[in-house]
Amino acid sequence: LIATYEKEIKKLERSGDQQQMLEALRGEKKQARLDYIEKHSQAAFDACFDGVSRISSIVGAMREFAHPGESTKAAAGLHQALTATLTICRNEYSSVADVETDFADIPPVVCHIGDLKQVFLNLIVNAAHAIADAVEKRGSRGKIRVRTSTQGDQVRIAIEDTGIGIPRAVRERVFDPFFTTKDVGKGSGQGLAVARNVVVDQHGGSLTFESEEGKGTTFMVSLPIKPPDHAPIAPTG
Ligand SMILES: Nc1ncnc2c1ncn2[C@@H]1O[C@H](COP(=O)(O)OP(=O)(O)OP(=O)(O)O)[C@@H](O)[C@H]1O
Ligand SMILES: [Mg+2]
Repeated sequence: LIATYEKEIKKLERSGDQQQMLEALRGEKKQARLDYIEKHSQAAFDACFDGVSRISSIVGAMREFAHPGESTKAAAGLHQALTATLTICRNEYSSVADVETDFADIPPVVCHIGDLKQVFLNLIVNAAHAIADAVEKRGSRGKIRVRTSTQGDQVRIAIEDTGIGIPRAVRERVFDPFFTTKDVGKGSGQGLAVARNVVVDQHGGSLTFESEEGKGTTFMVSLPIKPPDHAPIAPTG
């Protein structure tokens, strides 16, 4: 619109007459510019604020994710760790899947939180890759659901995807070190082997899965709220 006004103004300037019309057009051009700014400025500011808040949440998540944690086990909130992990690897899933979280009121867990974040990261990235493969076939977006619950003296974290599923023939082998079905550079086959080591050997928990080919997979991490070797914390105050 503004370009059209400019063209008209130039034409009139060249012809050197109709001074009044020229002024009127100049006024309309100014108004058009103001209308344009008025119409679009709110959206531009919203996009800016959105970007800034996205950046600050990524920076916060990176701080949370990269926090070295304690060398001994300490009570930690798993929801914070899961939320930071989901933010960190957003890039892996955002183009193929939506994420849904269903967090129950679980207690803090005595654990090596840094190692558990690596476990969650691998499970979420695996889910994203399985969904990406399914999206190639089906075309529609998938879903990753992260749920937590308390089951007696354990907490359970379930990471569910609507990916391609794990074929029966390889179910026995997915936890083997170096077992991968991914292309070179995309997977090294270490993720689940390390995850099992962290969950089972370090924490006395369990890591299992259920899968249906073509439908999806759910990995379940169960962790004792207080591991058997945990000395009771002295009451304070
Ligand atoms: N959610 C899932 N859906 C379908 N297949 C899966 C899923 N999780 C794991 N797998 C299968 O198990 C294999 C081993 O997984 P693992 O995480 O150990 O290694 P990777 O993802 O291939 O590589 P890495 O994690 O070392 O980058 C995968 O290559 C894939 O075939
Ligand atoms: Mg993996």
